[in-house]
Amino acid sequence: MNIVLNGVTVAIKSPPLASLLTVLREELNVTSTKVGCEQGGCGACTALVNGKPQRTCLTPIAAVDGASVTTVEGLGDSDHLTAVQQSFVNHYAAQCGFCTPAMIIAATAYLEGNGSSDREEIEEALKGHTCRCTGYQKIVSAVAAAVAETTFDLTVTTPSPNTVIKSGGQT
Ligand code: FES
Ligand code: FES
Repeated sequence: MNIVLNGVTVAIKSPPLASLLTVLREELNVTSTKVGCEQGGCGACTALVNGKPQRTCLTPIAAVDGASVTTVEGLGDSDHLTAVQQSFVNHYAAQCGFCTPAMIIAATAYLEGNGSSDREEIEEALKGHTCRCTGYQKIVSAVAAAVAETTFDLTVTTPSPNTVIKSGGQT
């Protein structure tokens, strides 16, 4: 068996019924996927499988043989954060950080699915994720801001010093 983990094909030695969560953490040393309830309820173990958020605790590795798996390690790094990651920083959307990788993964999928900045829609997209620190308001704000940032071109064009503004707004 193998998976394409964060863009790199890796061979898997674990038995077929080992969970993807166990394979990621214990065989491949990818620890952003967290061990929470291990029953599909908390969302802390979520990764993208072929671009869709999936509970890795409920996913036998054999079921994703050959699949593309993306974790937070495969998004931005500390020098080049993605819009979602930067927005979480900007909005102080992490407290203990336990839920944060999966929240970012779910939010990334939401943005890639052209999700809107509507708070209710964001809450719906993240509803399967538990934040034990109850930082939900800041998390939703971070996702909404990330949507806005990636939707609108905020580039400001400053006129050069020699630009003459004529009446009617034409130069
Ligand atoms: S650890 Fe997988 S959903 Fe809770
Ligand atoms: S930031 Fe602590 S569990 Fe969410």
